[in-house]
Amino acid sequence: MAEDAILGFLQTNDEIADSHQFSASIGVDHTELENVIKRLHGFEIVEAKDFKKDNYLVSEEGKQYALEGSPEVNFFLAVPVEGISLANLKAKLDSKVFSIGSSWAKKNGWIEIAKGSVTRKVENVEDKVKDLLKRIEEGKVVDGNDVADLSKRKLIVKQTWRGYTLRKGSKYVSKRKKAATDLTREHLQRGDWKDLEFKEYNLNAQGQPIQIGHLQPLLEVREEIQNIFLQMGFEEMPTNNFVESSFWNFDALFQPQQHPARDSHDTFFLKAPSTTRYLPEDYVERVKCVHESGGYGSKGYGYDWKREEAEKNLLRTHTTAVSTRMLYMLAQQRPFMPKRYYSIDRVFRNEAVDRTHLAEFHQIEGLICDHGLTLGDLIGVLEDFFARLGMSKLRFKPAYNPYTEPSMEIFSYHEGLKKWVEVGNSGMFRPEMLLPMGLPEDVNVIAWGLSLERPTMILYGIDNIRDLFGPKVDFNLIKSNPLCRLGLQ
Ligand code: PHE
Repeated sequence: MAEDAILGFLQTNDEIADSHQFSASIGVDHTELENVIKRLHGFEIVEAKDFKKDNYLVSEEGKQYALEGSPEVNFFLAVPVEGISLANLKAKLDSKVFSIGSSWAKKNGWIEIAKGSVTRKVENVEDKVKDLLKRIEEGKVVDGNDVADLSKRKLIVKQTWRGYTLRKGSKYVSKRKKAATDLTREHLQRGDWKDLEFKEYNLNAQGQPIQIGHLQPLLEVREEIQNIFLQMGFEEMPTNNFVESSFWNFDALFQPQQHPARDSHDTFFLKAPSTTRYLPEDYVERVKCVHESGGYGSKGYGYDWKREEAEKNLLRTHTTAVSTRMLYMLAQQRPFMPKRYYSIDRVFRNEAVDRTHLAEFHQIEGLICDHGLTLGDLIGVLEDFFARLGMSKLRFKPAYNPYTEPSMEIFSYHEGLKKWVEVGNSGMFRPEMLLPMGLPEDVNVIAWGLSLERPTMILYGIDNIRDLFGPKVDFNLIKSNPLCRLGLQ
């Protein structure tokens, strides 16, 4: 519409001198016209030169004066030829008209106020203010001094407008053909494709964003770690049971029943079903014995082992419960076959929640079960595994776990943080754990565990675990996160 109006006007005229006047004359909003002008200028169909122009708008008060007359004239007209007392005049007039009108009428020398009464000094007055305001409303030019006076009285307000002068551009046409963007079935049927102008392909245009799923950082790092285990010849263990019995989570691991980790402060116990019904009886018997009086060269703990305690259901506190089940199953097979197992899944601990701890997290666990393994094998495997994760400077610190001997905490030097950070826990499973299962005497198990969250937070630079896991995770962050490649070798 506006485009046709501009092009049509320029066909018979040299220029459009002022886009504001033009927009008013065709009844189009100037901002809309400005968009059209910019587009046509871009295509060189018109040549637009911009200019700044001061424009005056009549204020609300000014509009009222333009309609009803200025207060000074209304004041003057209310004064009868014979004069009037101020009090009577005040009662007759609107208070604003009275106050503003009296002072301007006096300043203009139209009236005289003496001894409490008002008299006219001239016969007639002209309402110049009203006339000026009307002229400004109509967009007519008025004298600079008058503009200054009206501005001072806040009857008009200055606005600076950007306007354009338009002339034909080098590619001027009186009417633009709208270029077709697609060749349609209708075009072919009607045959008008022969005369159509098609829009050129813009090969630099950005494509539509593709809607696809995105992996959560934890899932990405999990996949990377899974690949490392697979490359090292490990098989995945089935971890699909969050609910576990105390027997498999603690007792089978030679963890005494009075151990503080078995307290409800550290472990979530289930209300219903509160106990397990199935435990392998003869194995339970051997576990009871090893706790109470030892065997296999051990003294045991020397306390009264209670089955009720072992039957209590809980949310597993570590995936070592899964490793234990797998080792027990492996021990039942003949002949014995060496195995490398791993798992990455969720565990639960009744901990105080803070910026780095949640009551649930993911554990990564690896184990190797074979004849004659030593601590040297464990250190070698850990160095290989962590180097593939991008951590090649490791240190080991003696530690304690009820089920491993020796046990080692694993530290890695963090180049970014410039310090040693704890990255995992490891050890060789004790004979008190392995022999009651029925594993051959010369078979050892080396194992280690770490959380999935910790390396993920370091890799993605996340310092609050709630930004990584739970309802506060920001979807946009997940979408825009770069893939964090671990140091795969
Ligand atoms: N279960 C240990 C933990 O929860 C990790 C671990 C696994 C330690 C295997 C030694 C051997 O921290």
